[in-house]
Amino acid sequence: MRVTVHRKAHFNAAHRLYNPSWTNEKNDEIFGLCNNINYHGHNYELIVSVTGSIDPETGYVIDMKVLKDLIHTEVELPFDHKNLNLDVPAFKEVNPTAENIVVEIWNRLRAKLSLSLDLEVTLYETPRNFVTCSGS
Ligand code: NI
Repeated sequence: MRVTVHRKAHFNAAHRLYNPSWTNEKNDEIFGLCNNINYHGHNYELIVSVTGSIDPETGYVIDMKVLKDLIHTEVELPFDHKNLNLDVPAFKEVNPTAENIVVEIWNRLRAKLSLSLDLEVTLYETPRNFVTCSGS
């Protein structure tokens, strides 16, 4: 029997979406307000979902305290109250869309989790717009 545990988290961050190899006109056409040269912010909501077997000794799939601390170290500390384009090295050359942010978060968490656990990350950029990454 495999069970999925979910942990919610949150961070605020600023970004600007643009492709430096395009003209301003094309960036405006594709990214609209998201191409604002002075950046704009989002209240990102995160759901980290970890699937695995229940450890018979603890009764846990993963200790929630461990998962909470992992999200804090790998996501909240590096992303919260940051400018994603300027402050997060992963987005120096990669457009910080919700899609690329969720991949970066998934990679960071995946590297720290037991291979016996499956990982899915859901990232809400707005209450209505969200993306998921399960690594495949
Ligand atoms: Ni945006």
